Amino acid sequence: MTQALRSGRSGRVLSVGRLYCDLIFTGLPKMPTLGEEVFAGGLSVKPGGGAFITAAYVAALGRPASLASALPSGLFAAALIPDLEASRVDLSVCAPSPDTLDPQITVAMASGNERAFLTQRAGPAVPAGFEAALASGRFSHLHIGELATLVEEPSLVRLARAAGLSVSLDCSWDEAVLARDDLAGLIASVDIFLPNETEADRLGITASAPPPAPLTVVKRGAEGSVAISAEGAVSVKARPVEVVDSTGAGDAFNAGFIDAWLAGLPVERCLQAGNRCGAEAVTRIGGASDLPDLDRLPAERA
Ligand SMILES: Nc1ncnc2c1ncn2[C@@H]1O[C@H](COP(=O)(O)OP(=O)(O)OP(=O)(O)O)[C@@H](O)[C@H]1O
Ligand SMILES: [Mg+2]
Repeated sequence: MTQALRSGRSGRVLSVGRLYCDLIFTGLPKMPTLGEEVFAGGLSVKPGGGAFITAAYVAALGRPASLASALPSGLFAAALIPDLEASRVDLSVCAPSPDTLDPQITVAMASGNERAFLTQRAGPAVPAGFEAALASGRFSHLHIGELATLVEEPSLVRLARAAGLSVSLDCSWDEAVLARDDLAGLIASVDIFLPNETEADRLGITASAPPPAPLTVVKRGAEGSVAISAEGAVSVKARPVEVVDSTGAGDAFNAGFIDAWLAGLPVERCLQAGNRCGAEAVTRIGGASDLPDLDRLPAERA
């Protein structure tokens, strides 16, 4: 990626991928086990999925952001659309789902430091109209919220490049996707790859081996984050915070990192910006609803 393509403080981000209805159960006394019932302390129903959460944090940082997702219909539309419309994310590249399609839901359960997820996907990850939107010239950067979306639509990176965009990619845990043997070419084609530590371990990423994408950023929870490139590895520790709900921390991190990277900041500062957004996310319940204006790092260039 050349510095010339990096777009300063105003370039619009297009974030593509599935929008889920997150049912987040909190305050579980323990994780459920077979044959037993567990009662949660609370439940929140929020729009989720990496594409939306990253877009919402990008917008809260003051950078314009659009979402390219299929919008839910029926019951789940009523639950999610008001929150989506209240976010600062532009929804004009989204398309409605047919009423006949199952809803896309993630059930998230949190007990102490343990988390478990159960997800239902339905329909295509990329909405009709995505290609035309890319060609409109409105966007500087494409973020792909899940590696599974790129596996489903491998043309995404080529289309983004043809429109002059830089590209980032979150991994997001998906056993079947991570077991594939054709991931190397897909991951190498983006500018920034952003797995968490478990995903990085699964893919065999280490700070001493050549990174799978030119800039590979591993999110390490309370430990912070590390960026690996041909120039070597750079780590930045996280600031200690009180964890309320870690849902979406990685997606929030992506937003801070991408915003700073697009502004041309050095990688250490991009990691600081990512850590800040990740820390913000773990101190609030749910993905990205009702975000305040977030502090940005000053925009001096590298
Ligand atoms: N306990 C914590 N204290 C401070 N910062 C944290 C904590 N947990 C996460 N973060 C910040 O958030 C970033 C992302 O968190 P994490 O590594 O858990 O990502 P993730 O597993 O991809 O999250 P998710 O997939 O749930 O969105 C970390 O790199 C760190 O900057
Ligand atoms: Mg993640």
